[in-house]
Amino acid sequence: MWRLVILLTIVLSVDCVVIGRIQDAQLIGDDNEVWFNQTREQCICEMVKSNGLILALNYFVTNQTCQFFSLNATNIRLEFFMNCLVIYVNQSTLLNMFQSTTSTLPFTTTTQTEWIRTGDMTVPRSSHSASVLSNGQVLVAGGTSHGVYLSNAELYDPSTGLWTPTGSMNVARSVHRTVVLSNGNVLATGGYTGTNCLSSAELYDASTGTWTYTGNMNVARHGHGITLLLNGKVFVFGGFTGSVYTNTAELYDPASGIWTNTGSMSVARYFPPASIFSNGKVLVSGGYTGSIYTNTAELYNPTTGTWTSTGSMNFARYGHTLSMSSNETVLVVGGIDNSGYYESTAELYSSSTGIWIVTGSMSITRFGHKALELTNGKVIVIGGRNNIYSALNSAEVYSPSTSNWKTIENLTVARMYHSACLLSNGIIHVSGGQLNGDYTNTVEVHY
Ligand SMILES: *[C@@H]1O[C@H](CO)[C@@H](O)[C@H](O)[C@H]1NC(C)=O
Ligand SMILES: *[C@@H]1O[C@H](CO)[C@@H](O)[C@H](O)[C@H]1NC(C)=O
Ligand SMILES: *[C@@H]1O[C@H](CO)[C@@H](O)[C@H](O)[C@H]1NC(C)=O
Ligand SMILES: *[C@@H]1O[C@H](CO)[C@@H](O)[C@H](O)[C@H]1NC(C)=O
Ligand SMILES: *[C@@H]1O[C@H](CO)[C@@H](O)[C@H](O)[C@H]1NC(C)=O
Ligand SMILES: *[C@@H]1O[C@H](CO)[C@@H](O)[C@H](O)[C@H]1NC(C)=O
Repeated sequence: MWRLVILLTIVLSVDCVVIGRIQDAQLIGDDNEVWFNQTREQCICEMVKSNGLILALNYFVTNQTCQFFSLNATNIRLEFFMNCLVIYVNQSTLLNMFQSTTSTLPFTTTTQTEWIRTGDMTVPRSSHSASVLSNGQVLVAGGTSHGVYLSNAELYDPSTGLWTPTGSMNVARSVHRTVVLSNGNVLATGGYTGTNCLSSAELYDASTGTWTYTGNMNVARHGHGITLLLNGKVFVFGGFTGSVYTNTAELYDPASGIWTNTGSMSVARYFPPASIFSNGKVLVSGGYTGSIYTNTAELYNPTTGTWTSTGSMNFARYGHTLSMSSNETVLVVGGIDNSGYYESTAELYSSSTGIWIVTGSMSITRFGHKALELTNGKVIVIGGRNNIYSALNSAEVYSPSTSNWKTIENLTVARMYHSACLLSNGIIHVSGGQLNGDYTNTVEVHY
């Protein structure tokens, strides 16, 4: 009993509860061994209690069912993905695994991971925001659904895999931008209501589940960029004002709730992605200027409030992503260039040289995908669309050590204009989006 309590404590405190589908494993027991209406922790508890008889489990959040597996050592394929552990083995190895990193495993087999459907959102939505709250829940807000612009918001609880409605924003917002402030509140900025471009901003208080207006931005914007600066202020730049594409930028001070203009970019940029370096400077590249897709890049210095041009990308890009990779290098991926050519290319920007260097290309062209920074400098790109406007169901991972991409399992649903976020325990969470004209409320996770 003592041992059981200790092991469970480890599992729960690490919160790296990662369950991969195990192929070719032998399903043990009969129907009595399939548990309904259980939490993930209850399933793990049952596995630990079995004292080695149950060596792995599948937990389905959709129907809260667990399936237990015994080990058929010669046939289990375990392929580890990311810095998270995927399988539960017997008690003596459990402890070691939670202390080990991905590269050293107590055995030589590999685990197969895959995308797993989790609870659906209450409404289909695309171009919404998704924010990971400090309590681990995911807040999605706004977006569009079959032509309707949404103000409503809902919360995903990773421990149950279910969504519950929470307070609605004061106004419908799509292609708005959000950040989680250092005090845990979520700031939603700008966006498009379906008729108007917004200068307003509002704060979500996770403790009350309500939204309240805060100061207005000086400029209305949607499709702008946003970054939380190291000093806790929120930095927005570019976007469309409702009449022009803008190069303006401004800062929000959470202490006063006031927006102040800061230096403008050298060009207007619509959908400018950004990355922040450890010295606090913000790199912005590409986007639509109002006339062309640009290959230019510039750096914002929060200390001086000014922008400096830096090396240009090798390709003009719009609908691309920027992600911090290893060693303070930034990876730019995909997008569309001025000839209408969709990019599979990727480039790395080094803060020390200020130069972009082409690195390995993705397996396919990709626009409007989502990118997440994983552990060890790896970057995953998810979904998006290709040059025939088809939503993509593929995802691939860039490894800085090999400069190459590895395509992983297909998503269960092809998506563009979806959201993607990394949960606190390393789980990738993908919600909503569009697939070829339709909107989806489906959600899936990858461990
Ligand atoms: C699971 O819980 C639901 C709702 O409480 C209930 O309707 C259902 O019968 C339960 N399923 C089983 C197999 O116990
Ligand atoms: C629970 O859901 C999973 C995934 O949808 C499915 O494979 C499994 O058969 C379901 N379990 C039961 C007992 O219905
Ligand atoms: C493991 O499973 C495979 C495929 O189901 C089977 O052929 C093999 O005999 C099993 N091995 C053991 C040791 O049970
Ligand atoms: C637990 O698993 C490890 C590795 O799979 C094995 O070496 C060890 O003998 C197992 N212990 C028990 C009690 O089954
Ligand atoms: C990052 O820098 C360290 C130290 O210079 C080096 O050992 C490592 O290989 C670099 N990693 C990558 C992915 O370039
Ligand atoms: C992934 O999806 C693509 C496109 O739909 C399809 O061609 C491919 O066969 C799928 N791969 C797997 C492993 O299912």
